[in-house]
Amino acid sequence: MAKNSKKVNKVQLCIDRDFTISKVDERIYGSFIEHLGRAVYEGIYQPGNKFADKNGYRKDVMKLIKEIGVPIVRYPGGNFVSAFNWEDSVGPKKDRPRRLELAWGVVETNQFGLDEFMDWCKKVGTKPMYAINLGTRGIDDARNVVEYCNIKSGTKYSDMRIKNGAKDPYNIKLWCLGNEMDGPWQMGHLTAEEYGLKAGRAGHIMKLVDPTIETVACGSSSLYMDTFGNWERIVLENSYDTTDYLSLHTYYGNAEDDTPNFLASSVAMDQFIGQVISICDYVKAVKRSKKTINLSFDEWNVWYHSNDQKVEKWSEHPHQLEDIYNFEDALLVGSMLITLLRHADRVKIACLAQLVNVIAPIMTSDTGAWRQTIFYPYMQASVYGRGEVLNTVVKVPTYESKHGDAPYVDSVVLCDEENETLTIFAVNKDLEGDYELTCDLRQFAGYKVVEHSMLTHKDLKAVNTEKKPDNVKPVDFTKASKVEKGILTSTLPAKSWNVIRLAK
Ligand code: AHR
Repeated sequence: MAKNSKKVNKVQLCIDRDFTISKVDERIYGSFIEHLGRAVYEGIYQPGNKFADKNGYRKDVMKLIKEIGVPIVRYPGGNFVSAFNWEDSVGPKKDRPRRLELAWGVVETNQFGLDEFMDWCKKVGTKPMYAINLGTRGIDDARNVVEYCNIKSGTKYSDMRIKNGAKDPYNIKLWCLGNEMDGPWQMGHLTAEEYGLKAGRAGHIMKLVDPTIETVACGSSSLYMDTFGNWERIVLENSYDTTDYLSLHTYYGNAEDDTPNFLASSVAMDQFIGQVISICDYVKAVKRSKKTINLSFDEWNVWYHSNDQKVEKWSEHPHQLEDIYNFEDALLVGSMLITLLRHADRVKIACLAQLVNVIAPIMTSDTGAWRQTIFYPYMQASVYGRGEVLNTVVKVPTYESKHGDAPYVDSVVLCDEENETLTIFAVNKDLEGDYELTCDLRQFAGYKVVEHSMLTHKDLKAVNTEKKPDNVKPVDFTKASKVEKGILTSTLPAKSWNVIRLAK
């Protein structure tokens, strides 16, 4: 549909109470902490800092993570994990080795490791998603680390955990079988056949140790890898029975300063998800399997601002990948969250990469912690995006983009029957025009607008800093939304992220 700029722009949301996509799996609001830059050291862990607790965990950072309500955290990598020996990171700190960290060219001190991470998860109220090294290591270490974490006692590794101070098993449920093994940059990079076999064998031996765990096999590190498609197929053909999820990773950037195309990146993300679902289902059909492989979008974000950041070789936790996010990045993050939700029937896990300091919604300095622009859509989706995702038809004009036709408005509606709430997330990508939104809610008698929160800024490049932490933040816009005779009407201002909440 061509856009007529002289008319009022309109967007109509069409929903039916019974036409649901799926209940949201809360793990879709997961995040990621890698031993990279200042994510761990100076991010979540900084002994001696005025905000640190007795264990060295930054309390100010914990507070912000709790505000988001991050349900799972992927750890310890990322590229880092492909040459990481988990044993280096447990036991008395004074005995832990300093290691050359080959993925990012720095030194890893191992002063924060597996045991501290599990303790920190408990304190922050999140669950671990632990990645094993399938680059430089293999299935023997895979079984050992599951034994260390999940077996009660009476064996070499479970007793080692107890000796290290953790009496109860960690019961880690979710395990990543390596990281981005399709990438030539990965230490121990493998072909699809080699990785598929290795992942299948690792999953098998790990589930012998603990049959209750779930495993995530590596899909492609991006849609644009030459091996994309065949990689997914071959990996699953070789590991189907012991794999539960296949991973997807994607990052977008706006180096060309072309905002309409940048904001259309969610179209590419949507296509990526659709294609991976097709491949999973192709392998299912060929195998005549009853089992469905779901998706773990365990790295997604905007990443490009820090591309030219220089790092001193073999330094300790330098400033690395410290993207300072602007307002337009928050719009795309909002659209990406909507895209994930619209695939809630198959995307069961997703991790915003990453959580603190490294391409992150939360930044720290020695003197404080603050919310980047992207914090807000992520936090609001996590806090309010619960219940059933409704199959939301969005009737709105589109514009041409390098990814294909892009709707001016991305939106999705969620219905929480138990709490009798409706939540609408909407991004207006039009840089000039407001949109008048309507949605027929006659099936939801008695529902009223509780809040319309809106994020916009006159400057697409506006950022939050330690000195100006509230430069970009949502405002109350409830006056713009109302329900009359069962029809919701609202205004979505030009270039805005919106959360419209209704309740009975
Ligand atoms: O998140 C930063 C890096 O991006 C991760 O280490 C890697 O998995 C991906 O390429």
